[in-house]
This record gives sequence, structure tokens and C-alpha cells, in this order.
Amino acid sequence: MASVPSLSATIQQRIADVLGADPLLRRSDRADFQANGVLGLAKRNKANPRELAAKVVTALPADGELIADIEVSGPGFLNITVSDAAITNILAARAADGRLGVPSAEKPGITVIDYAQPNVAKEMHVGHLRSSVIGDAIAKILEFEGETVIRRHHIGDWGTQFGMLVQYLIEHPHELDASPEGSDGEESMSRLDRVYKAGRALFDTDEEFKTRSRKRLVELQAGDPETLAIWQQFVDESKIYFYSVYDKLDIAIRDEDIVGESGYNDMLVETCKLLEDTGVAVRSNGALCVFFDDIKGKDGEPVPLIVQKADGGFGYAATDLSAIRNRVRDLHADTLLYVVDVRQALHFKMVFATARRAGWLTEEITVKHIPFGTVLGKDGKPFKTRAGESFRLVDLLDEAVDRAKSVVREKNEELSEQEIEERGAEVGIGAIKYADLSTSLGRDYVFDLDRMVSLTGDTSVYLQYAFARIQSILRKAGDARPSPHPELPLAPAERALGLLLDEFGNTLESVSETYEPHKLASYLYSVASAFATFYEQCPVLKAENSVELRENRLFLCELTGRTLHQGMVLLGIRTPERL
Ligand code: ARG
Repeated sequence: MASVPSLSATIQQRIADVLGADPLLRRSDRADFQANGVLGLAKRNKANPRELAAKVVTALPADGELIADIEVSGPGFLNITVSDAAITNILAARAADGRLGVPSAEKPGITVIDYAQPNVAKEMHVGHLRSSVIGDAIAKILEFEGETVIRRHHIGDWGTQFGMLVQYLIEHPHELDASPEGSDGEESMSRLDRVYKAGRALFDTDEEFKTRSRKRLVELQAGDPETLAIWQQFVDESKIYFYSVYDKLDIAIRDEDIVGESGYNDMLVETCKLLEDTGVAVRSNGALCVFFDDIKGKDGEPVPLIVQKADGGFGYAATDLSAIRNRVRDLHADTLLYVVDVRQALHFKMVFATARRAGWLTEEITVKHIPFGTVLGKDGKPFKTRAGESFRLVDLLDEAVDRAKSVVREKNEELSEQEIEERGAEVGIGAIKYADLSTSLGRDYVFDLDRMVSLTGDTSVYLQYAFARIQSILRKAGDARPSPHPELPLAPAERALGLLLDEFGNTLESVSETYEPHKLASYLYSVASAFATFYEQCPVLKAENSVELRENRLFLCELTGRTLHQGMVLLGIRTPERL
């Protein structure tokens, strides 16, 4: 076997090295790669590009191992074909590495990621789905690259409504009591929902209750123990519900990472004082406000960020500003990420700008709002029930799992009921996650379960079937072992698959630079498609009487399977061995 290349670079990067300065290399239909860089060079030197290209070709080091063919084409492009042996060799080196040759970040830092932030005593809806699924994938990808990731679930557990909720529970003490059979997440939620609705109704109709609720809010903010204990009941009950939904969603949430709005309560007074003392915030009609030159409302009047209301109450912004101080000063973050609905873009813009003026965010710290768009119904309008309410997230998850079960049942009649249950959950939840993750950030998408669980097209089910098919081939291989044979010529479909597998590390690197998980989703989809073509054109187990050919193809199958698996793990999608 020829020498095994090191793993730091992809084939494309190696060719770029051989060609020297900025060859503008890209994948091409005519050869494996096309370099356009000579055109610019010729222009700068007022030379004939074709002649210059020919000169470059002859001047190139005789890199027989990597490049099989290089020719000048058109006005001065270089068409480059990589040698089959180089492809197999580099894949062999990737396969020999536990990380599939994916390099770790050179200078890993500390990222605090704010995602999966539902609200206490309220149902979870599709917005919480997006934040959770996208945040979970980004956290996993960064961690895989070696970054220290601190998760923060900034749950809505503070605010004016808690005065009303606590007061209602004091006056109706047994409303949150669990049934003697114990409590599951759904029951917790329905009790909370009942209390919420009843409290709200009373608040809106009964002036005296309203007054008592307002007083209760002051007690809560002042830290009165009895009030806090009842507030805590709401939080605990809600957590039972959140955990049950996250369990269904197959997303791991740890208690210590849940630091809700209330967690920054002790910092609020100081945060406001610092802003006021430094002049970053000023009093305007009693409220403490931060103004921006470039942020104005429709009437041309400046829209301020309100950090403290005229009545002394603190809001969402004061909490987020305090959270920044905590994350930078105490958690030592050098990157702050917020996976939150695009509709909060202005809020974050103002919060970040304020934190910069106050000096809490310095040049060295990266801060980024990772926005996501709205989930739409098939009519292209925000996805709502007929009554105009948001769909409950659990209902959508259950429906996806049900649909997936019938797909699985139809496709494989040999599965037991228990297997159908398990696969149904893996396929259904995977489908929902993938539909979300394959949409580019900030964009809306249509919630269409039929499409999501479809076996064909850009779906997780398609990826899962590719993976399961590979496992089935490997099981049937008997004594034949997957093993690379660089001496063998490769068929076009093998080359295409191989060159794509070589790009895994690069793809992940780009995802962690841009925080765009859809790039990983679309990469995995191309891998699964390239595999389908390979499988159609290149028999594996029946490969013409050649043991080497069979082993080499099994090797490609195995590496494809491992790449799909690793990629899907990072997206939070299961890869059942059989489907
Ligand atoms: N709980 C909020 C909501 O449901 C999202 C919180 C986002 N995070 C933050 N640090 N503001 O809309």
C-alpha cells in the first residue's frame, strides 16, 4: 500500500497546495476539480491565460501520487483529475481514525449557548421546538470540535404573571396537587393550564383579585419566603412537563443547565445602577432607557431599550443584560450564542449594543443571535389551530410518531410490535428534527408531516434507510471484510462517493464557523444520494469474482455508514440498524 497521507487536509486542499497561491479550486463535472486561478493571475500580469495555464502545468511538481491528470481547457482553466489510489488511500486514513479524520479546533474556547427556553406554566409550541432542535445540534457539533460548551436554558420563570398565579394558588390551595397515582408530564401541564386560565379569568374580571395579585408580585420580587415557595411549585411542576417533552424529543436537558430569568434576579439592581452611573442608560418619563441613533419607530421617534419600567419593575432586557455579565464574568465565555425566534432580533441587537457600551462585551467576545423563522401551516400562514391557537408541541410529536409507525410497518412486515414502536419514535422524531435542521437559518418552513416522513426526497427517513441498508449489506458480507485496496481502479460512482466522504471534516468546520446546521444536513443528504447511485451501479456482495473488489466496496459502504452515523448523531437523529 502506498504511503498514508496525513489527515489534516482534504484532497481539495492538497491540490490547492500543489498548485500554489489561490487557485480558485472547485468541484467540476468535467474532471474532479477545476482551477480558475490562472485567469486572474494572467489578467494581473497581462499575459495570455492559456499560455500561462500551460506553463503552470509543466512547472507543477510531478505529484504522481495525488494527481492522475491535469489539462488546460477553455480560456485557461485547469482540469484536474485525482488518482484513484489517492482517493482510496486518504479514505483509508480517515477510516483508521476514530474521528473519521475530523480535526479538532486548534484553539477551542468557551461557548455559552442559550437555547431550549420554554416558559413556566405554559404549553410548549413549535417555536420551542426550533430553538431546542437547532440549539442541541449546534451544541453537539461545537463540542465534537473540542469547544467547551455551557448550555443555558433561559426559561421564562419570572415576570408579572407570577403575582397572579401565586395569589390564585394561595386562594385555591389544592389546585396543583397531584392525583394519588402520581404525575406525568401531561397531567402536570393540564393542572398548570387550568390554574393559569382560572387565574387569568379572575384577574381580568375581579378588581380586588387584581390588586391582591399586584401586591403578591411585590412580595415575590422582595423574596418573601412563603411567596417564593409557592412560585417554586409552579417551576417544579413545569419542569416535570418540560422533561417529559424533551424525553419524547430525544433531547437531553440537565437540571443544572436550566437557569431561568429568575436566576439573574439578584443582579438586576446592580445592572441598572451600572448603566445609569455610566450614562449608558438615562431616565425618560421615569423609566430607565437606552437610546440608539439607528433604531427608530415608524413615527421617526427613537425606540429605546427599557431596562427598568417607571414603576420600578425590571423586564426581559434587564435580565438578558445581567445574564451577559454572568456569562462573561463568571462563566468566562468567549462566545455567546442565542438560538431564539427571529422576531426577537431587535431585542438582541439593542441588548448586545448596550452591553458593548457598558464594556461588558469586549472586542474579544463574539456574540451572536442565531435566529429561526416561523413554522407555517400548509396555507403558508403561521401554523395555528382553527381557533387561532398554537399547536401543542406534544400533539405534533405524537402525530409524527404515529405516521412514522405506519411507514415503518408498511416497509418491513417482519418487525415485531415492539420494534415498530421503537423505530416509529426514531423515525418520527428524526423526521421532525431533520425538517427543522435542513431549513436554512432565519427562514420559515411549512409543517407538512406527509413530506417529513417520506421515504424519498430530502428527509431523515431517506438517510436512515441508507444507513440501515449499509448495515444489512455488512451483515450479509459473511467472511468478506471491508478493506481498502488502493491498487484497484475506481468506477465513477465510487470516485464521486469517495470525494464526498473526504469532505466530512470540512463540512463540520464550516458548520461550526457559521453555526448553520443545515449545511451538515445537506451534506449528509448528498452522501446518501451518492451512496444510492454507487449501490445501483456497483454491485457489492456480487462484485465479479474479485475478492479485492468486494472488500474495497464493503470498505466504501462501511465508511459511508460511519460518516452518516456520526453526522446524524450530531444532528440528534437516531440511526436504527434495521428498518
Ligand atoms: N422564553 C423566551 C420565549 O419563549 C425565549 C428566551 C430566549 N432567551 C433569552 N436569553 N432571552 O420566547
